[in-house]
Amino acid sequence: MKGILGKSAVVTGGARGIGKGISIRLADEGAKLIIVDIDEDAARCTAEELCRRGVQAEAYKADLRNITEIDAMVDYVYNKYNSIDILINNAGIQIREWATDFDEEKFDFLMDLNLKAYYFASRAAAKYMKTQEHGGAIVCISSANSKCYTSKRSPYNISKAAVNGLVGTLAVEWGRFNIRINAVAPGYVLTDMVQKGINDGIIDMQANFKVIPMKRLLRTDEIAGGVCFLASDEASGITGQTLFIDGGWSNCGLPED
Ligand SMILES: NC(=O)c1ccc[n+]([C@@H]2O[C@H](COP(=O)([O-])OP(=O)(O)OC[C@H]3O[C@@H](n4cnc5c(N)ncnc54)[C@H](O)[C@@H]3O)[C@@H](O)[C@H]2O)c1
Repeated sequence: MKGILGKSAVVTGGARGIGKGISIRLADEGAKLIIVDIDEDAARCTAEELCRRGVQAEAYKADLRNITEIDAMVDYVYNKYNSIDILINNAGIQIREWATDFDEEKFDFLMDLNLKAYYFASRAAAKYMKTQEHGGAIVCISSANSKCYTSKRSPYNISKAAVNGLVGTLAVEWGRFNIRINAVAPGYVLTDMVQKGINDGIIDMQANFKVIPMKRLLRTDEIAGGVCFLASDEASGITGQTLFIDGGWSNCGLPED
């Protein structure tokens, strides 16, 4: 894809799951990867795996619920690479409980990562991107749950709906600086997050397939393809949008066999 080769690309939560898939695709397109994750060992393994593919990649440890750590990470990237070109806000968590049981501490814990970190990382990167002639591209990982609301995850659904609003809002402010910001909203991808839901008996994929027209789980590379497109110059006229990569789930009205 046009415009990825040689760019510096930060992927938060890039150690595993969807973030790892995105890192692999961006690396295959020739980006220099900075894998930011709270799990330093896993991030290092992923970076080493990328380096073995012949690309430049490094791991960076940060807890993205901490704004000071976000700012330090973005400063580090800019100072080392003399640019911050692509930011993928991907790290997120799920807490599955009825709304009536959700306490304030858990609500804040989830929102700090799924929403606040996206806002402050985008803001920190944009401060540098607006000084770059070519601007920059930000992609935030939302969820089909931003539109298809399911029970026992209300703060998660709300955080993801807010991400769609975040990209629309910041696109309006930052278009003038040639900074594009979009979202990708995945359906079900079999990562650790979804496996835990299946193991805990909260996710029943056979039941879910009745509202997912393609009737299968998605692969990380299918999400990564959309993310990479939005980060590339192929999408040079697109900003403020949310691209649903969900096997058709968000268009399905009633359960279908
Ligand atoms: N898996 C799905 O089906 C699915 C569907 C829709 C949206 N999503 C979204 O995709 C994103 C990635 O999900 P996934 O399924 O790959 O999750 P995952 O749990 O497999 O991976 C998340 C990564 O984020 C890291 N992380 C967690 N807390 C962190 C913190 N405080 N600071 C830094 N890193 C932290 C973890 O160490 C891990 O490497 C999330 O935003 C999630 O909401 C996932």
